[in-house]
Amino acid sequence: MLHRMFSIALLVSSSFIAIGQSSSATFDEGSKVFRLDGGDVTYAFGVNARGELQQLYWGGRLGAADRIPQAAPAREWASFDSSYTTTPQEYAGWGAGLFVEPALKVTFADGNRDLVLHYDRHETTSDGFNIVLKDIKRQVFVTLRYSMDAGSGILARSATIENKEAQPITIEQAAAAAWALSAAHYTLNYLTGRWAGEWTLTQETLHPGARVIESRRGSTGHQANPWFAIEAGDRPDENAGEVWFGALAWSGSWRITVEQDQLDGIRVTGGFNPFDFGYVLHPGEKLESPVFYGGYSAHGLGGASRILHHYEIAHLLPHRVGEGDEAAPKPRPVIYNSWEATEFNVTEEGQKALAEKAAELGVDRFVMDDGWFGQRKNDHAGLGDWYVNSTKFPHGLKPLIDKVHALGMDFGLWVEPEMVNPDSDLYRKHPEWVLNFPGRPRSEQRNQLVLNLARPDVREYILGFLDKLLTENDIAFLKWDYNRNWSEPGWDQLPPAEQKKVYVEFTRNLYAILAELKKRHPKVELESCSGGGGRVDLGILQYADEVWPSDNTDPFDRLTQQDGFTYAYTPQIMMAWVTDSPHWLNKRTTSLEYRMLSSMQGSLGIGANISKWNDVEMATAKRLIAAYHQVQRTIVQGDLYRLISPRNGSEFSATQTVNGDKSQSVVFAFIHSTQEGRGFPLLKLEGLDAKAEYALTPIEGAAARGTSATASGAWWMNHGLEMSENFKGDFQAAAFRLDRK
Ligand code: DGJ
Repeated sequence: MLHRMFSIALLVSSSFIAIGQSSSATFDEGSKVFRLDGGDVTYAFGVNARGELQQLYWGGRLGAADRIPQAAPAREWASFDSSYTTTPQEYAGWGAGLFVEPALKVTFADGNRDLVLHYDRHETTSDGFNIVLKDIKRQVFVTLRYSMDAGSGILARSATIENKEAQPITIEQAAAAAWALSAAHYTLNYLTGRWAGEWTLTQETLHPGARVIESRRGSTGHQANPWFAIEAGDRPDENAGEVWFGALAWSGSWRITVEQDQLDGIRVTGGFNPFDFGYVLHPGEKLESPVFYGGYSAHGLGGASRILHHYEIAHLLPHRVGEGDEAAPKPRPVIYNSWEATEFNVTEEGQKALAEKAAELGVDRFVMDDGWFGQRKNDHAGLGDWYVNSTKFPHGLKPLIDKVHALGMDFGLWVEPEMVNPDSDLYRKHPEWVLNFPGRPRSEQRNQLVLNLARPDVREYILGFLDKLLTENDIAFLKWDYNRNWSEPGWDQLPPAEQKKVYVEFTRNLYAILAELKKRHPKVELESCSGGGGRVDLGILQYADEVWPSDNTDPFDRLTQQDGFTYAYTPQIMMAWVTDSPHWLNKRTTSLEYRMLSSMQGSLGIGANISKWNDVEMATAKRLIAAYHQVQRTIVQGDLYRLISPRNGSEFSATQTVNGDKSQSVVFAFIHSTQEGRGFPLLKLEGLDAKAEYALTPIEGAAARGTSATASGAWWMNHGLEMSENFKGDFQAAAFRLDRK
């Protein structure tokens, strides 16, 4: 028996909770079982008697000496569902009577469409396996990559398809991975939304059949996000119960199919969206899928999101040069953004005046939004012409940037590189550069068209102008926007059979540009924005330091959006601006304190027209920005506990975060509208050190009552934090910090 075992040093920074100490990847030659252990998780699969790769186990970590029996194909169900379709395969080709979702579907040059993938060989890597599958007859190979994270037990899976036939093959469907769960009652969680209404946690009991979560839009989309979590049972619990979750690292069209099959097994298959898909693989060529990350927690959705947050911070987000905490993504600078104050009406003088006020508040970064370039007076013109508008900025950007620096802030700028207005010099010169089908209408959204970034010349143009902009100006940050979805996605440079490659090459070129910019300008940070939260996924997060979750900055709506967002993504990247009241979208009036506290749950920014703020407003914001700076790392990188969810019209909501060594915790509490005199519920805190003493200090709002300001972790967790009797009313907020003595 070959039994290889190795330990991997825990690569998480000291501020993260160590979930497990080691990982191992073992292959048992006798039983042909592959086993991966990491964190509190074991994942196992094996080669069955037919040669298929079959999933065996995904769940809580098993004993090191436990032996997993050899894979045995599942039974057939009469003459209608063969064992090929009932067996949970790791990566099933469409062929041999497969009726469930295939991982891979191809058409060969001779019209044959039967593909049956069997185990061919494997190698053990530093953190997992590369397993090669091969079609039973033809020279089509698939390399499945498995890489287990020692700390979190998150497994990264992807597939590379290689054509070694003498003729091209067309890939019609290619997943990154398929995950299987055995029969039980399950609740599916996923995130849905629309512009200004992203991040709705949608929960439903799984039934026989398929639930498809997808984007056909060319980019990630506001309408659904490539994340899922499946809970055992039909009564979801925030901190208890088994949860299997996953997220796709892809910013193009994607699909995750959650299927309850004939024998009540669950399969989750995800990767490129097969809708309108077709990738011609010439002899010797390869297609690499995105990565599909999967994880497990025995501590409910709360446990699942805490694991994912730590993984994102420790392994995915862009890291700085250095080691340990030095290298970790730093908490986001508190920004000021001009968009809601000035919209397109940016000028040197106007921006300088805003910068002066922003500096008074203690803001770290000043960001000028849309309107500074080309003939950009409104959204009808200018996109594509990335030269500074000389009427608005007669001396270029330098005087403004110098002023911002002199005020002690760094400077950020808005761009929307993949778009063009028909009313622009770029479009007049290169009408052939946009996605289109020749001779057909070109549908505009927000008066703009999508540049075909799959084209090498478009890629070079975008890389070129961004490189020049960053070389010629001292810019610390780009807000990278993307304000429409695709239509008429033609690419007539290529032969008709090849044009659908646009779905892959566009996104690959986007990543290539981002990677190259990071290389040439390593200090420049990036925000992924797509009219709000339309491009947030684990793919873009390898390049983006933060995201803009929504154009909806109403502080009450944001509570629910932020709640939904954090099921999949860490508050570290969740930018949240304080804007003006009444709010432009809902016409709701809220106090500045309420707005500040709502935004302080994530990475704080100011987006109001601060030139109109009075002394009291300036002093309030300044005080709370200073308080935020003191506890920011705990809020955005600590363990997040959603104590009371604001979902489903809740009267109250509350969150708590605890830092890695449990020395600090921050609590936020919000009242929507007090009814029938009900006081705020007792908040039983989580994650503290029961034996340590913690001092409670109000950051803002109603003081706690019923306890001295100092008590044990056990007190705060078992007895709970009681709010003052006066903490009542409409749109009220309070925040507290607890510091270990
Ligand atoms: C959409 C973004 O989400 C907004 O924040 C702003 O940048 C506008 N675009 C500018 O056009």
